[in-house]
Amino acid sequence: MRTAEIAQRYLDFFEKKDHLIVPSASLVSDDPSLLFTVAGMVPMIPYLTGVVPAPHPRIADLQKCIRTNDIEEVGRTARHGTFFQMLGNWSFGDYFKEGAIRYAWELLTTSESDGGLGFDERDLWVTVYETDDEAEAIWRDVIGLKPERIQRLGRADNYWNTGQPGPGGPDSEIFFDRGPSYGKDGGPAADDTRFLEIWNLVFMQDLIDNIRGKTEFDITGELPMKNIDTGMGLERVAFLKQGVENMYETDQVRPVLDRAVELSGRPYGAVHEDDVRFRVVADHVRSSLMLLSDGVRPSNEGRGYILRRLMRRTVRAMRLLGVDEPAFPELFLASKEAMKTAYPVLEKEWATLSASAAAEEETFRRTLAQGSTILDLALDETRKAGGSTLSGSEAFLLHDTYGFPIDLTMEVAEEAGLDVDRPAFDELMRAQRERAKADARSRKRQRADVSVYRDLRAAGETVFAGYTDLRTDSRILGIIVDGVPVQQATEGQVAEVILAETTLYAESGGQVADKGTIVGAGFELDVLDVQRPVPGLISHTVHVDSGGVAVDDRATTVVDAANRHAARQAHSATHLIHAALRDTLGKTATQAGSLNRAGYMRFDFTWSQPLSPETRSEIEDIANRAVDDALEVTTRVVSLDEAKEAGAMALFGEKYGDVVRMVDIGGPWSRELCGGTHVSTSSEIGLVSVVGESSVGSSNRRIEALVGQNAFRELAAERTIVSQLSAALKAPRDQLAARIEELQSHLKAAEKRIAQFEAKERAGRVPALADSAVHAGSYRVVATSLGEVGSADDVRTLALSVRERLGSEAAVVALGGVAAGRPVVVIATNDAARASGAKAGALVRLSAGVLGGGGGGKDDVAQGGGTDASALEAALEAVVTELTTA
Ligand code: ALA
Repeated sequence: MRTAEIAQRYLDFFEKKDHLIVPSASLVSDDPSLLFTVAGMVPMIPYLTGVVPAPHPRIADLQKCIRTNDIEEVGRTARHGTFFQMLGNWSFGDYFKEGAIRYAWELLTTSESDGGLGFDERDLWVTVYETDDEAEAIWRDVIGLKPERIQRLGRADNYWNTGQPGPGGPDSEIFFDRGPSYGKDGGPAADDTRFLEIWNLVFMQDLIDNIRGKTEFDITGELPMKNIDTGMGLERVAFLKQGVENMYETDQVRPVLDRAVELSGRPYGAVHEDDVRFRVVADHVRSSLMLLSDGVRPSNEGRGYILRRLMRRTVRAMRLLGVDEPAFPELFLASKEAMKTAYPVLEKEWATLSASAAAEEETFRRTLAQGSTILDLALDETRKAGGSTLSGSEAFLLHDTYGFPIDLTMEVAEEAGLDVDRPAFDELMRAQRERAKADARSRKRQRADVSVYRDLRAAGETVFAGYTDLRTDSRILGIIVDGVPVQQATEGQVAEVILAETTLYAESGGQVADKGTIVGAGFELDVLDVQRPVPGLISHTVHVDSGGVAVDDRATTVVDAANRHAARQAHSATHLIHAALRDTLGKTATQAGSLNRAGYMRFDFTWSQPLSPETRSEIEDIANRAVDDALEVTTRVVSLDEAKEAGAMALFGEKYGDVVRMVDIGGPWSRELCGGTHVSTSSEIGLVSVVGESSVGSSNRRIEALVGQNAFRELAAERTIVSQLSAALKAPRDQLAARIEELQSHLKAAEKRIAQFEAKERAGRVPALADSAVHAGSYRVVATSLGEVGSADDVRTLALSVRERLGSEAAVVALGGVAAGRPVVVIATNDAARASGAKAGALVRLSAGVLGGGGGGKDDVAQGGGTDASALEAALEAVVTELTTA
């Protein structure tokens, strides 16, 4: 049975049982504490917690998921995949344990010819939570399962939560026995490879918090109703039904594996390590493709970083399979072909997706090449300094800054006959992980307990009247102080205020919150921030400037009009720049983030090279021509499907049932999904002045612009600077560049002459220095400090001249100097001195040691330095002593 057919049977079954079938939500979770949709229930969290009413009490769906916490296991087991699809059925306060168990059993054991999945009852086992007598009784008495097929397990196995504060509950899991050749007898409690979990039925009833570990958390309350959340692993059922060994060999994944086999010319099923690599490629390519199609682009942070990691692991695995040429175009094509029936968007967006994948492969290949150069240098220096181990910090730098994988560093080092200080590297990695964890913990803490908003949200969505009006009269529905609902707030307090209707824009879509006030009889509130803590609810954080405000008071929201005007200009300018970028660079320049506030905008996009000054001007030009053309700005509220049909950009995190707002500037030329506030014709923007274009991590660029009055002020300030320069350089503005060039060439000529004088002066010192030679052991030695010098090179040049003048008798020259406050020593030996055993490299190390530093070089000339300039005489003396006693 093909994967798609299994999914169809599941959805058909539940549709007949009065479930509303909803499409998969995006892989990008709109929950800020979760990067990705890690389980089918993630998009359902607002319904499970009762914050938002569900569209139907029973829902079923096929949800795309990404989990990368077990990434190292991929390819090694039969069931670990970073991308997988979860079939689920939900009940929100409708059926509970018995309903869920009955449905699951019926679908699994109904024969294939009757539309079921056709599992043999004799192959199935179940587990229940250790104290769940009720679930056990249902399996035994209602389903008639033999008691020995039901096992009880503890929190680690039979209690489900997302790892974040929120809903959780005991569960009951259904397992398939793959037979004695896969492991030992004794049911799922004994062996989870032989007994493969296929379906988890979660009895979602608790609110959990204070999460300290997988099994360490507190059950802090009950959900407002008892829910069912189930998850059937589509890939697992598919590989069992298709009679293959693992998820990588199913119809949706295997074609990529086969393509990798063809490209590498190596067989699958011969060498274990190669097989793991083939499976890694098959898994990671599919995951990357699906992430790209949900709008994620490779970058160095958050979601983008995880995508980048998947893609780079793929390149690495292919290299280890002997493929050094670009492989993504072929691999991604194979994955698209296998997945497009289930996800038609892959075909539609193919040009963009394949271009992004190819660009990232190219970037990484450049990284590898660049990393190799840096690594070669580091290895060279290590060797020169007489070491045999590349330091952990060097390896870490390569990994962290250049994305150069440690296993590659070790491989190259080994080829060069060197070790890598792996323990030190691991320690640095551990420290970095700690930092990341601390970061994640602080993110978790930021996630306020949303239950305080539940009752307020139940009263309905906050009406946003701010698209058309700057002020509106409404009523205070709720006040929250320090996370606790209260009846009133008084002068001087900071509180969150929720109204039935508001004109104040809540931060979202890159646009910052409005400034303004909320006023009523006897109070005035200064608005500090506006957010949407849960979908559909707008909360204003305010400072009570005067008086006191209470629930039920009438109040008027007043937007700061000047600030809003400038914010609208900036947001519309962001859309113009986006459209202009696509005009000049093509569709692959996709949005990777944006921010706009009064007078300023920035826009990040995927692109691996800096923009040329010409391209930059062209983008600015197109944007300003659009301003000049007075293009009409129109907004329409449409269904998600209509928006996709109309080709709107920036679909991110929306889910079934959502209506979206489509903003056009000049018709389809600029068409985006956007909830922001905009001007009504483009000419209101006034002026867009691009002030910067820079890199934000590899493959991401940022364009920044000033907008409206701000742009004008910036240009006026530049004009003042130009006038000042013009006066100071005594040149009209159109001749400034030529004048500066002229000054620079004068300066260069002067510097050259100074250098010539200095060289002459140095040459003049040679005879006296040579004459100062003393006998030390069997050598003639010059050991002198030159005092302040221009650079270490000057010392070196002089040392070589003095050595030359000393003739062929065994001679050593040790010169010191202080360059830019730091002591340097240079040692030069002639042939006869070296024949007698004097080596410049060794002598310089000795001498630099006295300076509190180090150095190195060859036997004939070597250079070193340190930190303690006052020890220079002693450092040179050490050379003389060494030669005397040698
Ligand atoms: N939420 C449950 C799981 O992911 C069904 O296993």
